[in-house]
Amino acid sequence: MDNAPIGIFDSGLGGLTVARAVMDKLPDEEVLYLGDTAHSPYGPRPIAEVRSLALAGLDELVRRGVKVLVIACNTATAAALSDARERYWIDQRIPVVEVITPAARAAVVTTRNRRIGIIGTIATIQSEAYTNALAAVPGLTVVSRACPRFVEFVEAGITTGSELESVAHDYLDPLREADVDTLVLGCTHYPLLTGAIGRVMGEGVALVTSSESTANVTYNELVDRDLLHEPRGAEDLPRHRFLTTGGPATFRKLARRFLGPEVEQAGEVALAG
Ligand code: SIN
Repeated sequence: MDNAPIGIFDSGLGGLTVARAVMDKLPDEEVLYLGDTAHSPYGPRPIAEVRSLALAGLDELVRRGVKVLVIACNTATAAALSDARERYWIDQRIPVVEVITPAARAAVVTTRNRRIGIIGTIATIQSEAYTNALAAVPGLTVVSRACPRFVEFVEAGITTGSELESVAHDYLDPLREADVDTLVLGCTHYPLLTGAIGRVMGEGVALVTSSESTANVTYNELVDRDLLHEPRGAEDLPRHRFLTTGGPATFRKLARRFLGPEVEQAGEVALAG
């Protein structure tokens, strides 16, 4: 048993989709969420810069005593996963869960025609992290596309509307024409746009998000390593905490909309490095 919180790191607000899934799957656990909104989005930034920002955020969560780290941001996973595993798992025995492998696995078990589309930020697509994760599976056709403007919409709180739909057509029409039957939403922000994305791709295309599969991996890590929180009484609800490197008032407003009333308040934090 371990009553320390689960640390979830994201570039901003999108990782709340992973936090939601973790809270639903592990209702006794407390979450400490850190969104680096001051530097969001990570997608257009050089990989080396994303790596150093992500490690600074993860260091902060470790300093505050988390028992497991979840890197909810695909771009941060693509840039910093191997360094994070070395720094926290090899050196400190803090397990590091990421979002790319769980989503890639979910896509493989979902596709029927073996044609998978991947969408993500520029950095994630350029890193080829998803194509590499799928490379060992024979007979797959993988078509990737960067959709940078989707993050801007989500961070502005826009999840419907004609401008979003027109941008979605520009990005996604080529993937639909490539006849993919499974589309990996390879960015934590995209689950908030499943209405528009699903409408453009059509009903025959399954949308795979990393949130559900990442929550499953987190669950397994806690069980396998005997890190679950002790069982709580009916009145003993977990107190989730939220940190942001940007304006806490805006973060709280949007986070409550995306995640719900669990976001009572958000604290501001400055990251070292
Ligand atoms: C971003 O920070 O640009 C998007 C987050 C992600 O890649 O999941």
